[in-house]
Amino acid sequence: MQPTVTPFHHAATGTWSYVVADPATRVAAVIDPVLDYDWKSARTGTQAVDQLIAHCREQGLTVRWILETHAHADHLSSAQYVKQQLGGEVAIGAGITSVQRTFKKLFGLGPEFVPDGSQFDRLLEDDATLPLGRSSIHVIPTPGHTNDSLSYLIGDAVFIGDTLFMPDSGSARCDFPGGDAAQLYRSVQRLFSLPAGTRVFVCHDYSPGGRAAVCETSIDEQRRANTHIRVGVDESSFVRMRTGRDATLDVPNLIIPSVQVNIQAGHLPPPAADGVRCLRLPLDVFGKPQQ
Ligand SMILES: [Fe+2]
Repeated sequence: MQPTVTPFHHAATGTWSYVVADPATRVAAVIDPVLDYDWKSARTGTQAVDQLIAHCREQGLTVRWILETHAHADHLSSAQYVKQQLGGEVAIGAGITSVQRTFKKLFGLGPEFVPDGSQFDRLLEDDATLPLGRSSIHVIPTPGHTNDSLSYLIGDAVFIGDTLFMPDSGSARCDFPGGDAAQLYRSVQRLFSLPAGTRVFVCHDYSPGGRAAVCETSIDEQRRANTHIRVGVDESSFVRMRTGRDATLDVPNLIIPSVQVNIQAGHLPPPAADGVRCLRLPLDVFGKPQQ
């Protein structure tokens, strides 16, 4: 039996989160859950993820895993809130330790932040397998957008994080620290070797041209029609296109709060003696110098 996939769209950040359930046992995984965050007020919220949680309760699902495809730079993870509400173990690729080391330096984090991945319940090695009821989750390393990026293959469905977007939107940027366009190209070739009918679920869709947001395509469709990498596009042309395009992109709106929270497995900073939680705001570190 193939897994049941229920998508949840977070309109403010264009993110897709998923609940993937093994129909035989009702054991489920939550993939890339989002915490609401208002950048003007720095207020967090759970309105969006509460719908995902309500779905899991209504369907009587046992959440076994809360999976991150990578340390996101455009939205905050609600993994810890989902864990508190539904249980499950929070897992990410073992490459997170290198992402943690990089951003510890950029954010000037102190000795209290140990970049060893211990903030997560489970670090996933390349090609690991996790149980999901009578089904299983295969961990496919897909670095390039970040060096901890993974895809999760569950039955006939693959959750590809930020590798490719929908075919009309192409591929994810590769200019974050640790990103590498050539590596992304090779990761995509690995995804292209999956069976043509594999259902592909993306982590973002920004509704280009005003079309409705969509989350599902197939390996066959990506191989034939992805506007950046389809069969026949060679590595050097892709790298040239990707690098040129990345040079024109602004930093994501929420990179500063997102990365700080997400490298901590979604744990918000502990309150200080006065009860206030604070993130750091490093000046002149991210983005390009002002002209
Ligand atoms: Fe991302």
